[in-house]
Amino acid sequence: MRVMITGGTGFVGSHIALAMVEAGDEVALVDNLSNSTADVVREIRSLSGREIDLREIDVRDIDRMVDLLGEHGTEAIIHCAAAKHVAESIERPGHYWDNNVGGLQALLHAADATDVRRIVFSSTGSIYGDADRLPIPEDEPHYPTNPYSKSKSVGEQALRLAAQNCADWQITALRYFNPAGAHRSGRLADQPAGPISNLIPMILDVAAGNRPVLEVTGDDFDTPDGTGIRDYIHIDDVVDAHIAALAQLEPGFQAFNIGTGVGTSVLELVEAAEEVAGAPIPTVTRPRRPGDVAALVADPTKADRVLGIRSERTLHDILTDAWRARRRASRQTRHLVA
Ligand code: WQD
Repeated sequence: MRVMITGGTGFVGSHIALAMVEAGDEVALVDNLSNSTADVVREIRSLSGREIDLREIDVRDIDRMVDLLGEHGTEAIIHCAAAKHVAESIERPGHYWDNNVGGLQALLHAADATDVRRIVFSSTGSIYGDADRLPIPEDEPHYPTNPYSKSKSVGEQALRLAAQNCADWQITALRYFNPAGAHRSGRLADQPAGPISNLIPMILDVAAGNRPVLEVTGDDFDTPDGTGIRDYIHIDDVVDAHIAALAQLEPGFQAFNIGTGVGTSVLELVEAAEEVAGAPIPTVTRPRRPGDVAALVADPTKADRVLGIRSERTLHDILTDAWRARRRASRQTRHLVA
């Protein structure tokens, strides 16, 4: 299949790209490189032994996107391009609106203009906010508590509307809970060009000696140990979900939770990471981050039933693969500095 992946050099996009190229798909990557680097393309070419095309385009550039969709003969789009940090979105709501909602709107215009009506959309479990039910099923009402999750909820509404107004659209939204881990080679990982902010990269930064302590943002949540609970799913399981969703696209709009159904608290994760890294991870408690919720855990049964996918990797697999990538990055940095 000829697939365009927007945000293709990002954490999720790059791992999907590698898997699809290895499977023989014709993949075009689009990324504005605002939070990733083109180094990823070299790794994908080296790991797969196959060519892959990267265009440095912002998805909001409709004319260039129309040209590329036509030139590539795109049959389906996986739309990952978006800013994704909860805390940052509270500081920069305008940027998140323009980048995430404006970007999706522009992509829809370009796709419509080139009759590319098959889309897999990167959504998020954080649209549910402080959900009444845990684990959370797909029919839980949206209650976004920050501009990031609001931008994804609005994105889903725009896509649902497109699919309702024109039977040709085939759209699936995948509501990721917390993607984590890294490619088994250690050569692709969650490596933003900007500062890290997600928990597992932060924890491994401490384990690697790059950060003195892990700041636990909130220990007064309504959870067993007071710290935030999330559903960490291995990036390889997230990739499998995209490939299954592409194969299963049908007219209309569908949404699936992409998670394991298992919740892990910050302190539980610290303990698991100390075991994998074989290093102590000192912590200090800080106030909650604005917009953070106590717990987000997926009910993954619909994705299992309809897409035939079920998380197969464990938290230990996540931490082992992420730690391998972190140590490789440290070796590379030392080599560069030496
Ligand atoms: C997890 C927990 C923090 C950092 C992410 C992505 C978002 C979406 C969902 C894909 C929370 C705590 C964190 C730290 C901490 N993914 N924490 N100290 O906020 O759930 O969102 O997953 O769509 O794009 O950003 O993940 O890893 O930032 O936080 O205590 O230094 O860890 O309070 O409870 P989050 P996170």
